[in-house]
Amino acid sequence: PVPVVAIDGPTASGKGTVAARLAERLGWHYLDSGALYRLVALAALRRGVPVEEVAMLARLARELEVRFAGDRIFLADEDVTEAIRTEEVSAAASRIAVHGAVREALLERQRAFRRRPGLVAEGRDMGSVVFPDAELKVFLTASVEVRAERRFKQLIDKGMSANIERLREELEARDLRDRERAIAPLQQCPDALRLDTSLMGVEEAVEVIFDWVRT
Ligand code: CDP
Repeated sequence: PVPVVAIDGPTASGKGTVAARLAERLGWHYLDSGALYRLVALAALRRGVPVEEVAMLARLARELEVRFAGDRIFLADEDVTEAIRTEEVSAAASRIAVHGAVREALLERQRAFRRRPGLVAEGRDMGSVVFPDAELKVFLTASVEVRAERRFKQLIDKGMSANIERLREELEARDLRDRERAIAPLQQCPDALRLDTSLMGVEEAVEVIFDWVRT
């Protein structure tokens, strides 16, 4: 089978950047599964579909016209790379992600990314549900202080305003929802290796995981 590295972890743990760099380094494909939940959330917000309308959300998820082109993400013909990163979409995505029917609708779409020579997939349930047979599973974490700080810097760098206390509260609320939902909750798989990046830069984290892949 085509090898998969599954990287799961809480919000702002560095998963996105680490997984993308690792994929580049290995010359493998890359799946940002959170982007799919964000795309469903964006489409739902725009159409005024409430976050509890499960059947309609599942339908949106199934019919989503998504295209990943390099580091840009398209919904139909529109570049929504920035639009899916707002706090409003983040909060809606985590509310939508609790529905089993939505997760089910995105399952095959995610598995289709598994192509030669390999795939680095990041999210919350890559190792537990989507790619349970992954050859390497990593659980990436960092302290809540460090994660809030990272999110804060990201927003400031983009010229957006941010309040670190509020960011921390939102981050903890989202983590709690991800950890306590009934379906595919965020938790470390028994066979996953844990990497705490609180005191570690992106390059160092990539280096560690790269070595795990090679051994
Ligand atoms: O960037 P951040 O880590 O904050 O979030 P993300 O990875 O883009 O995911 C956004 C939301 O989608 C998360 O808060 C989860 O609720 C949900 N998600 C999920 O349930 N399962 C995944 N495999 C990926 C994301």
